[in-house]
Amino acid sequence: MTRFQNIQSTLAPDLRKLNELILSALSSPNELMNRVIATFLERKGKQIRPMLVLLAGKILGNVNERTMHGAAAVELLHNASLIHDDVVDDTVTRRGAATINGLWDNHLAVLVGDFFLSSALLQSVHTGNIRIVESISNLGRLLSIGELDEIYNARYADPSENSYFEIIYRKTASLFISCVEIGAIAAGIESDDPRYEALREYARLLGLCFQIRDDIFDYFPDTKIGKPTGNDLREGKITLPLLHALTLTGHPDHRQMAALARKELLEPAEIDLLINFAVENGGIEYARQTMQRMASEATETLCNAFPEPSPWRDDFIALISHVIDREY
Ligand code: FPP
Ligand code: MG
Repeated sequence: MTRFQNIQSTLAPDLRKLNELILSALSSPNELMNRVIATFLERKGKQIRPMLVLLAGKILGNVNERTMHGAAAVELLHNASLIHDDVVDDTVTRRGAATINGLWDNHLAVLVGDFFLSSALLQSVHTGNIRIVESISNLGRLLSIGELDEIYNARYADPSENSYFEIIYRKTASLFISCVEIGAIAAGIESDDPRYEALREYARLLGLCFQIRDDIFDYFPDTKIGKPTGNDLREGKITLPLLHALTLTGHPDHRQMAALARKELLEPAEIDLLINFAVENGGIEYARQTMQRMASEATETLCNAFPEPSPWRDDFIALISHVIDREY
């Protein structure tokens, strides 16, 4: 059993309940909506985000109905953002299967995404806790701003590591932070409790690692992730491996590559050039080392706040290793 399967099996009864809750949250009298949703739910993804909500509750010793509604809310909001993201990015495959816009069209995908988003908000209301509703609502704002920042940067700004980290914080880490916040709030923890801040910091680092790993996939063909290579560059998004290679100002190809990186609408051959430049100049290695450093920091933060060993603490530690080593 892999580390990840091990976490899944410790959470299996809760995940089963959660998936039943999600299914009922998405029920509607519309036959077309039901057909689209049934197809979408065939590829659920790994459900790392609701697992984080549950793990936060477990490590704090209190998983309850609020936790389940909170976990459903983050999973639904996450899926809403992916459904909309595939429209924005014009992507026709995800998780190895056709996207809603790919299988049907943008019109339908936007509406189904709206339905997921509204269902997420409703689930947060069902927690009966205004801090959870606030966390989910803030999250929707941060995700949208993160996406717009990325578009702004791709169009108007010079690429930099600082702005890269700012973007991935907003578009990815914010969701991970919200998950542990919700798990902790549902467990009755106040925000001035040091364990609350430690869980948030762990989740921030986990989220950053998750996005860096996701961005590395874009540099290689034939991964199990089920998305085409070079997609980010096609959209003008410059991620950590290439950002690092572009700092090598002494490299003979530096001027050409820096100019290409700023060019709008790259040709496929130009995308290949940039990808090769990043891969051949230590970009992947640099990104991997960055993740390793963050994972150690996350583990240390967690162990300081939760000094007692527990299976749940082990799960948190295993989760970050899984995220940085994953092949899908
Ligand atoms: C995937 O990133 C997309 C996101 C992490 C966030 C998308 C957010 C929105 C579309 C706006 C907010 C939406 C709602 C419903 C509040 P990516 O494009 O880098 O990764 P990918 O390769 O998986 O598509
Ligand atoms: Mg995308």
